[in-house]
Amino acid sequence: MADLWQNAMDHAVALARTAGAVVREALQDERKVMMKSSSVDLVTQTDQKVEQLIIQSVKDKFPTHRFIGEESVAAGEACVLTDSPTWIIDPIDGTTNFVHGYPFVAISIGFAVNKQLEFGVVYSCVEDKMFTARRGKGAFCNGRPLQVSDQKEISQSIVATEFGSIRDPETVDKVLSSMRKILCIPVHGIRGAGTAAVNMCHVACGCVDAYYEIGIHVWDVAAAAVIVSEAGGVLMDVTGGQLDLMSRRVLAASSRSIGERISREIEAFAPVRDDAPPPQ
Ligand code: IPD
Repeated sequence: MADLWQNAMDHAVALARTAGAVVREALQDERKVMMKSSSVDLVTQTDQKVEQLIIQSVKDKFPTHRFIGEESVAAGEACVLTDSPTWIIDPIDGTTNFVHGYPFVAISIGFAVNKQLEFGVVYSCVEDKMFTARRGKGAFCNGRPLQVSDQKEISQSIVATEFGSIRDPETVDKVLSSMRKILCIPVHGIRGAGTAAVNMCHVACGCVDAYYEIGIHVWDVAAAAVIVSEAGGVLMDVTGGQLDLMSRRVLAASSRSIGERISREIEAFAPVRDDAPPPQ
């Protein structure tokens, strides 16, 4: 089995590279933007084309494997993680960045078996950075090993987060209140790349000490979760409890103590889960 997953991972890296070239080329052209759940939840033809390209290629090579893909779920497919080998795909993480030409855009491919993540590939294609990790075998960027920061002082930390795409005033108040409390600890600063996957890879690299967000989806974080943990980081729920990939909440940190300290400042709320049955 071990070799089979290595095969799958090699294929994921090759696909991420091909998809990245498609995305880079599309950045040169005018992009046709469509809305999904709201006017701030965007999709383009490139998201759909890249997801199809990845899924078709995996189906040809691994016909029994299953998929959770951002655009397939948007088109009505179920978002269910079973014990079967499952590819969890975000064809463009940072679609809003892509639409505006803001230069952090990633192809994110995670892979789980028996509900356990086996490998993650995140290709930040404008920067040409290929982040990879396989369970138990370390995390890498363009082949160089990654290690989270050894910062133990929250007051000397830098924290990544995003405003997210849930924009009702009550939710925005909670998001801003959490950021305010974290800024006032005080931490050195707050940053956000506009893609959950890249924010998590920044934790893995050690250039930020933690990242949290409520409102992300499983395809935004599955691949990068392996990269963070293989770089020595920890993953948890925003309350400090155990990470639940379908809960749409994530906190990734360089250490448990930094993560738990941040979790104490977050006003948690619970968006509709990714695996919730569709409304009747
Ligand atoms: C989004 C990005 C963004 C985060 C959102 C995600 P998408 O993913 O990761 O940084 O704030 O919560 O949904 O829509 O660009 O794939």
